[in-house]
Amino acid sequence: MTKQFPKDFVFGAATAAFQAEGGVHEGGRGPCYWDEYLHRPESTFNGDHASGFYYKFKEDLAHAKEFGLNGIRISIAWTRVIPDGDGEVNQAGIDFYHELIDECWKNGIEPYVTLHHFDTPLPLHKSGDWLDRKNIKNFKRFAKVCFEEFGDKVNKWITINEPWSLVAGQYIIGHFPPNTRYSVKDAVEAMHNMMVAHAEAVKTFKESAVSGEIGIVHILESKYPITESEADREAAKREDVLANQFMLDANYKGAYSEETLAYIRKILSYSGDSFEPSAEDMELISEVSAQNDFIGVNYYASHFIASYDGESEIVHNGTGEKGSSVFALKGIGKRVDNPNIPKTDWDWPIYPKGLYDMIMRLYTDYPEHKKIYVTENGLGYKDDFNGGNIQDDARIDYISQHLNAVLEAIEDGADVRGYFLWSLMDVLSWTNGFNKRYGFLYVDFDTQDRYVKKSGRWMKKVTEENQLVS
Ligand code: BG6
Repeated sequence: MTKQFPKDFVFGAATAAFQAEGGVHEGGRGPCYWDEYLHRPESTFNGDHASGFYYKFKEDLAHAKEFGLNGIRISIAWTRVIPDGDGEVNQAGIDFYHELIDECWKNGIEPYVTLHHFDTPLPLHKSGDWLDRKNIKNFKRFAKVCFEEFGDKVNKWITINEPWSLVAGQYIIGHFPPNTRYSVKDAVEAMHNMMVAHAEAVKTFKESAVSGEIGIVHILESKYPITESEADREAAKREDVLANQFMLDANYKGAYSEETLAYIRKILSYSGDSFEPSAEDMELISEVSAQNDFIGVNYYASHFIASYDGESEIVHNGTGEKGSSVFALKGIGKRVDNPNIPKTDWDWPIYPKGLYDMIMRLYTDYPEHKKIYVTENGLGYKDDFNGGNIQDDARIDYISQHLNAVLEAIEDGADVRGYFLWSLMDVLSWTNGFNKRYGFLYVDFDTQDRYVKKSGRWMKKVTEENQLVS
């Protein structure tokens, strides 16, 4: 018998303010660090227009409704609400998000609202971004303003999107400003500060008069050893602890386990560094752990890891030239090719079982926090415009396989409440520009016109029948 999705399953799509909105000079918005970075001479694209969601959100939400979606992830740009990050609140920014949120509900679509999606205001970024402890307080204030303003019309809050991707981009790969490379120490410190900032926001939310649910979204990619050798297994474990276990422990166990700390300290010892969080931070993290209402899982790929003794070497594939990426980290391991697994043009292994395994791991290892949403999943693809008749069968196949993994996890006991495609419409990809498309809606980035892709029409059938269709 064909498997049905649970009755109230959320079929959604995701967006993020900087990648979707454009309108960077509208309504008193201040700059975030991407505004500055993407205008440097070396940048090959800029984000000023993005997908024009600022102007087109009504049209986009009408399409979402037509696809049968009942959830959407949006993020609130800190720089629209508090343009310099820590100064005056900007009423025009507040008004914009009231309008956007109201429009979601008008279309019967519940907004899942993220407060930080990679877009720290420029002045706060310059002072050290998440490495500057003052920004924990600044974030807490921004969160409080949002809870007070929008609390009566938002039921699902996400504090921070993907701490690991952010710090890996900023301090390890170096393709996100401030473009530091190979500093695992900075990455760990910034991640820890984000754990504290998340805890502060959750605490503020729970102490407020506002009702609703709050959680955090993590990128959670499974890490498999490429062989069963002890050395490869240890390498995979090291990358897993750094990218996954560190934050899962903090959020859902309320403490870094002894094992996590031992691995992190060992990894940091290669650069002569250590990690000693304060008792005060750990108390706060522990206090709010049980108050997280759900786990948000962003999943695109898994990695196959081999042991590696050389110096760090990372080459980011930002062009979609298959086979051009390298990811080898001293003291951790090297991501290697698994010839049995297909990959995207950006070298991301397509492995739906990795999603199943991750969901089941959350179900088993963090049983107190059963409610799971797949908050992002999708295929970056060079869609052929084809006169507006976009046949994205590869995307349909990708989504189908991953939704099937979700159904299997549900069958095996996991409480998965929803699935959000990244993304509703094609958006700017932070480090790849505009040719890496993910949307149900094709965006012509010159005219900002939208075209429904085959995947959008397919999704409509899935939501109507509440099951996978061919
Ligand atoms: C997630 C982010 O990491 O992946 C999104 O939350 C991002 O903001 C998405 O766009 C896809 O990544 P990329 O690099 O292919 O655009």
